[in-house]
Amino acid sequence: MEWRPSKAEGVPIYKQIAYYMETRIFNGEYPPGGSLPSERFLASEMGVNRSTIISAYDELHAVGLVKRVKGIGTIVSPDVYEEGPQKRVPNWEQYVRSGFFQINNPINQQIYRIIQSKDEMINFAIGDLSMDLQPISLLQSIHRSMEISQYLGYEHLQGNIKLRESISAHLQKYREIETTPSSIIITSGAQQALHLIIQCLLKPGDAVAIEDPSYAYSLPIFHSAGLKTYFLPTEPEGIDPEHIISLYKRNRIKMVFLNPTFQNPTGTTMTMERKQKIIEISTKYGIPIVEDDPYSITGYDHQPVATLKSMDRDGAVLYISSLSKIVASGLRIGWIVGPQSVINRLTDAKQQIDFGHPNYPQWIAAQLLSSDQFDDHLKQLRIGLQTKRDLTIGAFKKELDGWIEFQVPAGGIHLWCKMNEEWDEKALFKEAIQNGMIYAPGSTLGSKPNYLRFTYSRTDTHQIEEGIGQFAAAVKRICK
Ligand SMILES: Cc1ncc(COP(=O)(O)O)c(C=O)c1O
Repeated sequence: MEWRPSKAEGVPIYKQIAYYMETRIFNGEYPPGGSLPSERFLASEMGVNRSTIISAYDELHAVGLVKRVKGIGTIVSPDVYEEGPQKRVPNWEQYVRSGFFQINNPINQQIYRIIQSKDEMINFAIGDLSMDLQPISLLQSIHRSMEISQYLGYEHLQGNIKLRESISAHLQKYREIETTPSSIIITSGAQQALHLIIQCLLKPGDAVAIEDPSYAYSLPIFHSAGLKTYFLPTEPEGIDPEHIISLYKRNRIKMVFLNPTFQNPTGTTMTMERKQKIIEISTKYGIPIVEDDPYSITGYDHQPVATLKSMDRDGAVLYISSLSKIVASGLRIGWIVGPQSVINRLTDAKQQIDFGHPNYPQWIAAQLLSSDQFDDHLKQLRIGLQTKRDLTIGAFKKELDGWIEFQVPAGGIHLWCKMNEEWDEKALFKEAIQNGMIYAPGSTLGSKPNYLRFTYSRTDTHQIEEGIGQFAAAVKRICK
């Protein structure tokens, strides 16, 4: 027997065995009326006590799947596929465990659980904007002017035309991207954009390249879709374009996912030279690039940063962005710019998933992006983000000089820190939470140990020093 229960699963061992045996019954390995292995035999095969197998069989008995027969042992209920005398309730646990969509990283689950239940926690973990960085009075005045009756029906499946027009104008003004409203689909944030691309343009077994570390690294959606992921190490100048060629030759990668500007989590921006090289490689080998770009207009020097899409003359780049990091994540407005056939394919999928994006936030976003005041908002946002970055760095220098290293980001919302000491990631994370602050442990975003991500955009300015102080106290206790 190859399978064995695992303590790391966080599910009691007897339950794991019950699920496993149930799966085998429904696979037909043990037919109705057939005997199950004896408790003693199964216990020795799985390396557990006999009492654990008894509890697992009790579990299957309780839902009417097995019977105890004197002199024989445990058998599969003969009426397992029939209407039987015993009540058979659906085993939701089994369904929950067997769906093809993969479960999130447990640390990410824990972060969301804590943040949702503890308002007082000082939050350096989530890529959101604090209230003072959002254009609230502008949004309120747009909201007041809204004629609700016009927005109660289904919207155009590709997205509200006014919003697509304003995104097209916005992309030209701020990101030097030339496009038309028909090449844009509105999505539920950049997250759904990634998901649609993965689900519609790739198939199980395909290989893709993602950056390491990266936001993409933290997403189980690649593996849920049956894709093989290969890593492109992130350097201070961005990923090395030559690595794309070698992954293409060696592993036949079908698509490359990049977040080239003010990257999550490293804050780095790919050099122009590397960006140009990537476009060249993409069009030489026919490898599509997905540019995930939520941050490029947050540069603290107020200068535009060239996107890959702005250099793409052949339609090799699918461009993703959203309003989450520049306006408000709760609007759930994201978009993709791409060739017409791709946009049509994704629109068809979006129709099947949710019948198009909700109308209200689209209308609000359209007004906001075309407002004269949007430019002022962006200027304020960059100043606000820079202030938070400086306070965070200042607090680190004061509290943990010599313990921690980082590159100072010139835009975006993340500070990627390397600890100079070896430490127990779980213990430090737990201690920091106990002290009242939370951050993202590096293992959720990348394969190299010793890193942590501090996202300063969500933290209230007056709490930054206190939060880093609480983190420093945790470090000094755990990493002695
Ligand atoms: C690089 C990157 N892509 C996509 C997302 C998803 O953001 P949203 O769906 O809110 O637009 C994030 C969020 O942190 C991100 O950092």
